[in-house]
Amino acid sequence: MALYKLQINGKTYEADVDADTPLLWVLRDNLGLVGTKYGCGIAQCGACTVHLNGRAVRSCVLPVSAVGSAKVTTIEGLSENGDHPVQLAWDEVDVPQCGYCQAGQIMTAAALLAENPNPTPAQIDNAMQGNICRCGTYHRIREAVQLASSKLK
Ligand code: FES
Ligand code: FES
Repeated sequence: MALYKLQINGKTYEADVDADTPLLWVLRDNLGLVGTKYGCGIAQCGACTVHLNGRAVRSCVLPVSAVGSAKVTTIEGLSENGDHPVQLAWDEVDVPQCGYCQAGQIMTAAALLAENPNPTPAQIDNAMQGNICRCGTYHRIREAVQLASSKLK
């Protein structure tokens, strides 16, 4: 075990865990940030997506020891009042069905739009294709990403 200081959502957190503990479990089990979900544990579904210095990463396969001083953003820290353009668009389009995959979807979409505020449909599909939704909300996800993009203009 070792003590890790983590910069998450603008605050410093400490976790006393093994070096190879995935960030996902530190977030959920040690820090109580349970908005980030566990789906597959092998980087195949996107449910655990968070931002590391603004880039979308799979927290289920990211050892806590590899985080260092990077800034982590989880769904809890994406905006103060749930009013990030992606969250507003998600609400307007009424994207979620069961909701389980949606934090990961939103974090991936937010990272895409931060890098490319005006993506083409093909770029949206390419960015979102690694985030699995067992409820098949893909058409609404695509629509909401386009709406969020228009909100950013
Ligand atoms: S839980 Fe991390 S990609 Fe599926
Ligand atoms: S909304 Fe149910 S898994 Fe995506």
